[in-house]
Amino acid sequence: MSDAGSVLFEPAGAAGLHGLLQAPADKSISHRAAIIGSICDSPVEIKNFLDAADTRSTLGAIEVCGVRVERLGAGSVIVHGAGLRRLRSPGEGRLINCGNSGTTMRLLPGVLAGQEGCFLLDGDSSLRRRPMNRIVTPLKTMGIDIEALGGGFAPLRVCGGRVRPIDYKLPVASAQVKSALLLAGLYGDGPTIVREPSACRDHTEIMLSAAGARIEKQGLVTRISPARRLHLEAVTVPVDFSSAAFFIVAAAIIPGSKVVLPAVGVNPTRTGLLDILKSMGARITGQPAPSGSAGRAPVEPANDLEITAAPLRGAGVGGEISGRAIDELPLVALAGAFAEGETVVSGASELRVKESDRIRSLVDNLSAIGVDIEARPDGFAVRGGTGIRGGRVRSLGDHRMAMLGAVAGAASREGVEVQGFDCVSVSYPGFRDALMGLISV
Ligand code: S3P
Repeated sequence: MSDAGSVLFEPAGAAGLHGLLQAPADKSISHRAAIIGSICDSPVEIKNFLDAADTRSTLGAIEVCGVRVERLGAGSVIVHGAGLRRLRSPGEGRLINCGNSGTTMRLLPGVLAGQEGCFLLDGDSSLRRRPMNRIVTPLKTMGIDIEALGGGFAPLRVCGGRVRPIDYKLPVASAQVKSALLLAGLYGDGPTIVREPSACRDHTEIMLSAAGARIEKQGLVTRISPARRLHLEAVTVPVDFSSAAFFIVAAAIIPGSKVVLPAVGVNPTRTGLLDILKSMGARITGQPAPSGSAGRAPVEPANDLEITAAPLRGAGVGGEISGRAIDELPLVALAGAFAEGETVVSGASELRVKESDRIRSLVDNLSAIGVDIEARPDGFAVRGGTGIRGGRVRSLGDHRMAMLGAVAGAASREGVEVQGFDCVSVSYPGFRDALMGLISV
């Protein structure tokens, strides 16, 4: 993802943020709906599909594998599922371009394992720096012919064939690795078992189960049986908790704010941030929103959230909660800057292998705008109560770092210039307007 575009975010002003904001569709669920839809035996209509660079990469990926995708406008797409074993190799020399999307690159090989022929997946320079052996090693144990041609990194070459079942304990809590193995397990000649060290997002399990796969979950152990066919009725994608999170934290830290976020996905494997903020004293209430799904469709819980600014106190964040808040942990540092006392995040070394090294980029950026923050090998510590002075930050091509910089600007005393803001298009193309809309109301 390019580092282009520089945008100044001014302080929100004495009134804070106000209004109702419809945040975009869930990225993780959109990816899964497209990938699982591609191996269903009939067309799947996906309503509220996220239109952003990452999910476009997934649609493009299934299209080069011969799956027809109809874009209906107003957020709906129809994926014309080809059947479990009917994806086509794009042919010699033709790539599956995953762009910046780790989810595309890590989930697809699970499905490609069950197809005929070979597939080559590649991505941008950021994706080429992200570790791939975490999927390659267990998929090889399943007998799959897969190589990370960049020495543990992309490009990936996957050739379909016989898939052996495994019983595998994930070395790190990763929903992407878990999902790759469960998808490969659909093609196994016996049941595959995946054991998580701590809970991570379970959208794949929910969607596969709705599609008719035999999948049993007991605590942190998931068992999937080989499938003969998958069938999904329309999928309605809820609002992305990880995108809403920027406004949850902004409203919690900017004095005078009151923001309503309707129908936000609140799958408990994603909402660690709410637990963390509430333990810091944040005022957040949630009312169940009506579910758009019925029949043979995945059901994900959604809430209307209301956030009112309130005084915060520091917190210690570690253990199982990290996996349920992994993409939101950098935002905890912003909350920490406004909280009395120290906020320490530990057990989160996975942050180092995201779209950027998020411990390093967070600490460099927040230090540059006047936050007292220190990096730790597996997290960071913030001495709070100072708020944010302002200055200049760099996204480093990481969409979540760019949006964090924008929120920091709105919460700052002097404003923050975000260099490389354009990369927000990866997950939230309309982010700037959304934030401005809450300031000017
Ligand atoms: C994702 C899982 C998480 C998360 C990423 C999206 C997914 O990564 O950080 O943004 O859609 O499965 P890991 O599974 O590697 O922790």
